[in-house]
Amino acid sequence: MHEPVLLKEVLDIFNPRPGQTYIDATINGGGHARAIAERVGKNGRVIGMDWDCDIISEARKRNAERGIKNIDLVCETYRKIQDVARERGITDVDGVLFDLGFSSYHTDQSGRGFAFSKDEPLDMRYHPERDRKTAADIINTYPEKELSDMFMRYGEERFARRIARRIAEERRKKRIVSTKHLADIVWHGIPPPARNGRIHPATRVFQALRIAVNDELASVPLGLTAAASLLAPGGTIAVIAFHSLEDRIVKDFMKQQHTSGILRILTPKPVRPQPEEIHHNPRARSAMLRAATKN
Ligand SMILES: C[S@@+](CC[C@H](N)C(=O)[O-])C[C@H]1O[C@@H](n2cnc3c(N)ncnc32)[C@H](O)[C@@H]1O
Repeated sequence: MHEPVLLKEVLDIFNPRPGQTYIDATINGGGHARAIAERVGKNGRVIGMDWDCDIISEARKRNAERGIKNIDLVCETYRKIQDVARERGITDVDGVLFDLGFSSYHTDQSGRGFAFSKDEPLDMRYHPERDRKTAADIINTYPEKELSDMFMRYGEERFARRIARRIAEERRKKRIVSTKHLADIVWHGIPPPARNGRIHPATRVFQALRIAVNDELASVPLGLTAAASLLAPGGTIAVIAFHSLEDRIVKDFMKQQHTSGILRILTPKPVRPQPEEIHHNPRARSAMLRAATKN
């Protein structure tokens, strides 16, 4: 089960009270949503959204087993958060949470190639039924220059050009369709001394591909803007990002909304996990939480 990060900090910022309405725009394992649902009680409501319908099906089963009735689960992208609220007759909410990116479900269980620790098909779509382009499509069809730009922009990969060249050479021999094959190409594509760093050489390439497949960086500002417009006065938006590219978007969004007088920033600097949380859940180490409240 995915361990919720910065849970105490999120609850401190939201301070949910009985009868309130919240949206968890990226519910996944539901750790944050359940804690909020407990506090808003049976007269309150949590809408839990996720773009991965397998996750929503599992969450429905789990909530039924546990008798949880005040979490309404929806398989939809947070780009459509306003439609989801409107369809439920909700015009304003007390808080919206975004916990961006992927989860341990994706790397450990989905079988969709989010990690290279297992050999899986290179897919990486959160929503295979609606999104067409897989990671394999990108790797095998994008021009070498576009691959290189993608690794540089979304992965901040310093050997982007070399890796893209190697991929272009390899795919002429054989279509690249598995995670291990791609990780192996990246490994051989970088200079030998760079292979022994803190993280596996393929980590940044996999991050870049996941962002590209799911158009993640374009989704974030769209989702945040839509969510801000749903907040009641005094309502709070909280966003957890896991890498600097996402965090920069969140920071710029909050600054711009603050300057326009729509939101007031609650976190001048991102809130980071305490050392005990990182010790207990290493995935939390890069988490950055920012929050703002509606004027
Ligand atoms: C880091 S996890 C959230 C973890 C969750 N807070 C918990 O406590 O278990 C991020 C989730 O966002 C989902 N996601 C990614 N892009 C999305 C989008 N555009 N709309 C809605 N959900 C999305 C992923 O499928 C994933 O389940």
